Amino acid sequence: MKRIFSGIQPSGEMHIGNYLGAIKNWVDLQNDCENIFCIVDLHAITVPQEPKILKRRIREIAKIYIACGIDPKKSTIFVQSDRPEHSELGWILNCFTYVGELSRMIQFKDKSEKGGADSSTVGLFDYPVLMAADILLYHTNLVPVGEDQKQHVEIARDIAKRMNNKFKGLFTIPEPLMKKETARIMGLDNPQKKMSKSAASEYNYIMLRDEPEIIEKKIKKAVTDEKGIDNLAVIHSSFSGKSTADIKKEFAGRNADFKKELAGVIIEGLAPIQSKLRELDKNPAYIEKVLKDGAEKVRPLAEKTISEVKKKIGLG
Ligand code: TYM
Repeated sequence: MKRIFSGIQPSGEMHIGNYLGAIKNWVDLQNDCENIFCIVDLHAITVPQEPKILKRRIREIAKIYIACGIDPKKSTIFVQSDRPEHSELGWILNCFTYVGELSRMIQFKDKSEKGGADSSTVGLFDYPVLMAADILLYHTNLVPVGEDQKQHVEIARDIAKRMNNKFKGLFTIPEPLMKKETARIMGLDNPQKKMSKSAASEYNYIMLRDEPEIIEKKIKKAVTDEKGIDNLAVIHSSFSGKSTADIKKEFAGRNADFKKELAGVIIEGLAPIQSKLRELDKNPAYIEKVLKDGAEKVRPLAEKTISEVKKKIGLG
């Protein structure tokens, strides 16, 4: 059985790009694979975080995983910093990764653009290596992610291959897994760029917890140039199951009607998730238990990899 690993940062609220590009695909794969879904809090602290908010957001991501359909009985859900082996393997991988490779990472270039690379944290620069550690620690076969993470999965493959050349059979080579249509959901207010939790305007995204009136307002304001319509048709299709071609044909030249129907489709699609979230909000002890059990469940795998890696490279 193939093993799947993926993760989300608790660095902001979750939007439908995260859902359609990542979580929805995890749910679809859940019965055919062995699944490990992580809440990557160590990645979140590569940019400043407010401790209390971070703590709340870690639990929020766990709730979102479950509310979207990840079943803790079928899949393991845990918090990255609860397993120290991620940091430990991250350090070892650092020593087999070149500054040049990390300098080519598009996300680092994007994220460090505002303040300049010199005032970005070393953690932000090193972020892909910790992500490689997450993936390689569990001998992952498949990494279901959105398009923006593809380059990071590729560097994990490069590091694994490099180390396998030197120390035979150390790591499984992972592969990124993407659904072409939803790998890159674009911003509603700017369809040239991906939908992003760090976007300047709230009209960029639809959050999983957005109320129906907010969803209607945001869709009403969405840009409807060619790229914008394409993106809205993809969103419609992912929630309704209709093909984008049929949707575009049905609503050709009728943008206002299209937007009205689309808002309805999204509201309907998110309703069961929101209702499950409200249920989970009332049961924080359950979430704590899922996370604690999850970290224990992956412990033997993580410990085994670390001990093999240390032995092979001459440590310990
Ligand atoms: P993060 O937290 O930025 O995003 C979580 C997931 O959502 C996908 N995504 C999108 N997909 C489609 N359209 C969008 N507009 C969109 N925005 C975000 C992302 O591609 C991702 O799959 N580095 C990762 C977290 C991570 C990880 C890992 C993932 C850490 N370790 C190991 C896989 C395996 C990140 O920051 O994702």
